[in-house]
Amino acid sequence: RNPDGSLARSAMNQGIMAKERREEREFQQKEALQSMPRDIMKAWEDPTAAPESRTLISALKTSSAPDSSDWRSKRPINSSRNSAMIKEQREHLPIYQLKNDLLGAISQHRVLIVIGETGSGKTTQITQYLVEKGYTQKGKIGCTQPRRMAAMSVAKRVAEEYGCKLGTQVGYSIRFEDCTSPETIIKYMTDGTLLREALVDRNLSAYSVIMLDEAHERNINTDVLFGILKSTLERRKDLRLIVTSATLEAEKFSAYFNDCPIFTIAGRNFPVEIYYTQEPEHDYLEASLDTVMQIHLTEPPGDVLLFLTGQEEIDTACQILHERMSQLGNSAPPLIILPVYSAQPTEIQGRIFEPAPEGSRKCVIATNIAEASLTIDGIYYVVDPGFAKIKAFNPKLGMDTLIVSPISQSSAKQRAGRAGRTGPGKCFRLYTESAFKNEMLPSTVPEIQRTNLAMTVLTLKAMGINDLFHFDFMDPPPVQTLVSAMETLYALGALDDEGLLTRLGRRMAEFPLEPQPAKMLLTAVDLGCADEVITIVAMLSVPNVFYRPRDKQAIADQKRAKFHQPEGDHLTLLTVYESWKSHKFSNPWCFENFIQARAMKRAQDIRNQLLGIMERYNLPVQSAKSDYSKVRKAIASGFFSHAARKDPKEGYRTLIDNHQIYIHPSSSLFNRAPEWVVYHELVLTTKEYMREVCSIDPKWLADVAPHFFKKVDPSALTSRKREEKIDPLFNRYEEKNAWRLTRRKG
Ligand code: CDP
Ligand code: MG
Repeated sequence: RNPDGSLARSAMNQGIMAKERREEREFQQKEALQSMPRDIMKAWEDPTAAPESRTLISALKTSSAPDSSDWRSKRPINSSRNSAMIKEQREHLPIYQLKNDLLGAISQHRVLIVIGETGSGKTTQITQYLVEKGYTQKGKIGCTQPRRMAAMSVAKRVAEEYGCKLGTQVGYSIRFEDCTSPETIIKYMTDGTLLREALVDRNLSAYSVIMLDEAHERNINTDVLFGILKSTLERRKDLRLIVTSATLEAEKFSAYFNDCPIFTIAGRNFPVEIYYTQEPEHDYLEASLDTVMQIHLTEPPGDVLLFLTGQEEIDTACQILHERMSQLGNSAPPLIILPVYSAQPTEIQGRIFEPAPEGSRKCVIATNIAEASLTIDGIYYVVDPGFAKIKAFNPKLGMDTLIVSPISQSSAKQRAGRAGRTGPGKCFRLYTESAFKNEMLPSTVPEIQRTNLAMTVLTLKAMGINDLFHFDFMDPPPVQTLVSAMETLYALGALDDEGLLTRLGRRMAEFPLEPQPAKMLLTAVDLGCADEVITIVAMLSVPNVFYRPRDKQAIADQKRAKFHQPEGDHLTLLTVYESWKSHKFSNPWCFENFIQARAMKRAQDIRNQLLGIMERYNLPVQSAKSDYSKVRKAIASGFFSHAARKDPKEGYRTLIDNHQIYIHPSSSLFNRAPEWVVYHELVLTTKEYMREVCSIDPKWLADVAPHFFKKVDPSALTSRKREEKIDPLFNRYEEKNAWRLTRRKG
């Protein structure tokens, strides 16, 4: 299409030198830029304009910081699997210089807070130092991570450094996946996994040292572990605790752990220039993709990291970027686009750490996971739209919803810092400086103060901790949230009138599931349909199994409709699994039917795990033999609080508070619209949609949840009403003292 492009290509064919190739690339960038529509170019606040209009992340440069003129040639090669190289890399980490001091501090103090920049070597090195020092003679080293993917990837890296096969001396354990063996001495795990271990053994006697990593994230499970470990430390004088944190909260952690010392690892970060937009962005996705393209076409080499909020958004972004790149054809240098989110196959996860080939640029599009838990070298540009998906408890619905919310200032700083790991970098913030200063909170609200506590309360009760109002939380959750969690558990039959754990509740706590699906599974055991319900629980535990590419939506929907069941989505999921099974769990079958093979494999793993637990507790796994009303009743027994009734005008109304909701268009019940339903979750897009909907018989509600629903005196009703009249026992969100009220009525 353009003569210069082909000229450049023919020059390349003659085998030009690398320098010329670079010039050519710059030329191509310029050219591609010209062929881009004008309006996508963004105007940025000029960081050099006035000192107030920019923030320079302060740089703690050490003598080994390379001269900025040649930093680009010093990109570390991270993918090398050679042990000499690994040794050199390890010795180059900031923590290495401090190894003896650190080990000294650990031996002197049973609790130690360690702070240091991301990438200084805390997660991968401290555990290995402890092994060298002999701490594993009396127990394992356990290291918790707030995220599954971080636990896996870090364990993989450490196994490599340690020189063993993953799952032997070094292993990991996450929900539904245990990759450890009796010889494991370094164990990475999610904080949820350690909490479950504490349920079985409150002294955590298998461990000699526990490291609560990334504690600044303030995950709910980490927060609960703080309290548990504080009391364990009193009982076990030989246990040591290390709490690591990226930044700010160290003082607070220290105060909580009786003023324990703080050990600081000086970082080696390069300056990062911060750019803000002049105007607020209306569409941050669009704006971020424009920015990525702009960086790719105008900035010198160096990889890009873009933060988005979730899997779907990331997939869309990748697709659009691919399209834009292919429109530019050969006129732009290659851009390697890599999505990163937790529900991702390991092969792709490995690729994000590999350096981009000479002449190309890597663009990593990640969720919050890349903010601190994952260290990707070679990033020079960060694009930060300023949002993250966070879990928030919606007291009106009595459940958590994931909402896209603005991040905090400390998150924004952390994100920007990612650009300064390998050399001086740039961070493009897709918000104004005034928004940063005036609208963002200084730090993120701890999860424990904003989420549903039902599972946490169940776990604590199962550990014998009854008085939750006086539990030693670093930041206590709101009393109302605790009460609401206890009400949920009472309605599910997990707590009795006195707020004590029932036998059913004890059982529910054995499963690594939220209380509602756990109840559903245990009811299924009684009803003789556990076989089907295990499959349904497993299928609900994986992200969307239906594949719906943008360019093939119609055909994908058509294929999906073949699985639709008149009773609803739970049974549709069961049908998908059963069909896959009858096709010998085949991959081509998935491909043909627009089913995500990976998600199915994972569901199969989860199913097997659950079967293992059932076997351990001698719970019979029987089949409903096509009597699906049993299955639906089991579903209702867990999700009765998510019951809704058709509104004669439009949509549905929740039984709890008469709130208007709708069936999601992708649901198998979208066109059928039965009178009564329960749903798995609500998603808020243009409307509040129920996702995974199941039709029910309203009479079941009072059977499965007598504490929650009452039957109205039938003599006072018409025959039709008599059939279905069910009222929620109380409107707990309007009753101030609902917990007491139920107790009296119950
Ligand atoms: O925990 P912290 O952020 O202090 O650092 P780390 O996770 O121990 O990472 C130290 C170094 O190990 C990083 O700079 C990476 O070069 C390397 N690493 C890796 O190559 N692959 C991983 N999965 C994790 C770390
Ligand atoms: Mg770390």
